Amino acid sequence: MVKKRIVTGDRPTGKLHIGHYFGSLKNRVKLQESGDYEQYILVADVQALTDNFNNPEKVRKNVREVVMDYLACGIDPKKTTIYIQSMIPETAELTVFYSNLVTIARLERNPTVKTEIAQKRELFGESVTYGFLGYPVSQAADITVMDGTLIPVGEDQLPLIEQCREIVRKFNSIYGEVLQEPQAVLSNEKRIKGLDGNEKMGKSLGNAIYLSDSAEEVNKKVMSAVTDPNRIKKDDPGNPDVCMVSYYHKLFSTEEECKKICEECRLGQRGCVACKKQLAQNINNILQPMREKRKYYEERPELIDEILKEGTEKARQTAKETMKKVKKAMMLDYFE
Ligand code: TRP
Repeated sequence: MVKKRIVTGDRPTGKLHIGHYFGSLKNRVKLQESGDYEQYILVADVQALTDNFNNPEKVRKNVREVVMDYLACGIDPKKTTIYIQSMIPETAELTVFYSNLVTIARLERNPTVKTEIAQKRELFGESVTYGFLGYPVSQAADITVMDGTLIPVGEDQLPLIEQCREIVRKFNSIYGEVLQEPQAVLSNEKRIKGLDGNEKMGKSLGNAIYLSDSAEEVNKKVMSAVTDPNRIKKDDPGNPDVCMVSYYHKLFSTEEECKKICEECRLGQRGCVACKKQLAQNINNILQPMREKRKYYEERPELIDEILKEGTEKARQTAKETMKKVKKAMMLDYFE
């Protein structure tokens, strides 16, 4: 039986944090280990440039960081294909073909793009670039050039997959049934909040714990996490429902631990410092094996190059096969 192909990826604009881990990485490792799928993970450097065109160093540097994060958390290059988006020129070619199948108005209505444009006023001013407005078209090419049929995404990415499906339907209705319509698989993990209680954990907000943080950094960050503001003295009764430390305990600690922590907190029997120390310990227990794996690759940078080269070659092969079919359908198959 042919395995369904998963295509997924990240923009290399920063190191990955525990929010990424719970939101997607953990799930990718699970999908990889199930052996039921063929998983392709792209490092979306071209997409990263759409809102970082003025900062190529940042994108270049983070390609390796992101790959290192993948490997550290258990993505195995023998089972999952990791590749660099810009090294697949077929994707750029397909993006141009798709650009005829999507209107500017439709792109402007895409809720994900709309939100992002609003957030990037500083970069774009009053007028957004053609490349940024069109990145859903390029993402549709990322997915379909690899024949991706399952796309694990967070909720914010759903409109991009919907737009990809529309492009595929339009393509097939004009040129014949060549492409497969991908399906979004919504990950059941919610986006996790920042140490300061912000809805989003993120670099620009300074409220993230990175997978590559040292034990000392984790301890320090956990100590700064926001707790119940009404709890002043150690034996005041606390409210774990408004405490970020209790929120993270639910992710990193056992159910039993959580229950005990909440009970003792409500009775004023457990101080915040003890609670934070326990949380930092539990986070460090999860991050420690990742640190060790990361160290292994950090000491062998040539391995990263090899992994990316091999993954990219394999992905490129798939892309070439798809483009052959696409060009034939579009009557662009000259000299063959
Ligand atoms: N848009 C994704 C993000 O911001 C990255 C991405 C690029 C992607 N191409 C993709 C995800 C194809 C899934 C499939 O994280």
